[in-house]
Amino acid sequence: MSDRPVLWLPRRVSDATIARARKDYDVILNEADTPGTSEEIIEMSSKVDAIMPCHSEHFSAEVVSKLDPRLKIVANHSVGVDHCDLPALAARGIVVTNTPDVLSDATAELAMLLMLGAARHAVRGDRLMRTGTWDSWSPSFMVGKQLTGARLGIVGMGRVGRAFATKARGFDMEVHYFNRTRLSPDKEQGAIYHESVDTLLPVADFLSLHCPATPETLDLMNAERLAALPDDAILVNSARGALVDEDALLQAIESGKLAAAGLDCFKTEPGGNPKFAAHENIFMLPHIGSATTKTRDAMGFRALDNLDAFFAGKTPRDLL
Ligand code: DGY
Repeated sequence: MSDRPVLWLPRRVSDATIARARKDYDVILNEADTPGTSEEIIEMSSKVDAIMPCHSEHFSAEVVSKLDPRLKIVANHSVGVDHCDLPALAARGIVVTNTPDVLSDATAELAMLLMLGAARHAVRGDRLMRTGTWDSWSPSFMVGKQLTGARLGIVGMGRVGRAFATKARGFDMEVHYFNRTRLSPDKEQGAIYHESVDTLLPVADFLSLHCPATPETLDLMNAERLAALPDDAILVNSARGALVDEDALLQAIESGKLAAAGLDCFKTEPGGNPKFAAHENIFMLPHIGSATTKTRDAMGFRALDNLDAFFAGKTPRDLL
């Protein structure tokens, strides 16, 4: 029997990650790649020393209370950790890490796609082409909203928010932001700071969410805040579905208050919100912000770096 730590990979992470993991760990891989259920997480905790979950595996307080003491570390393959009850894990003495930095550019690129797709009627245009129903053109046909010179509001100026601001500057947007703490001028890069979300909203022709999902940010974009946006604003969410009150968003789309929305995250995942599908001005993708080959390898490697440090008796770089 090997004395190497046993690692459970509940999801099929990148091939490079699996290959590297196999060099140093006895890997149990869920070849079926189905989300780890509570029962599976509890059962596997008695067989492994470490788990590398994605945001699809939920470590609720109840699950954590039933984990076997053999499990020592949860090395997340994600930057978001809203699927983990961190206080409960800490109380059980289980180490938790995540994968910041490495997915910022991929997620910011996707947020740009959402913003452009929502602004320029990507859903409708694609449908017309695909169904052979593009039968006319006029100067008023599919007129959208231009990014150049428009005001972009960013909620949450962490790594992803800043990467998105950099890309938006390439489109000559005027960047405004709210963050719990003001950034230093070198990080701000000329972005205009707002001390509260409520002063940011009225100037945000486009509003992009980049803050974590916490009890404080649940339904951050509720009916009142959506109403505070300028008329014809566009909402972009590549962070977490929990940040948006989906009924209020639907209402803002149906009333014409918002011109459009670009969404990669939903309250219910997988699946999304079927009510959104009736609206071609809601451009949607299925939570693929970090889904590039480069980034998925980097996320897996970062999670492995954290595991390696932990099992070498060092403090993992991304210890939460
Ligand atoms: C993250 O890392 O949090 C992304 O949403 C993918 O899980």
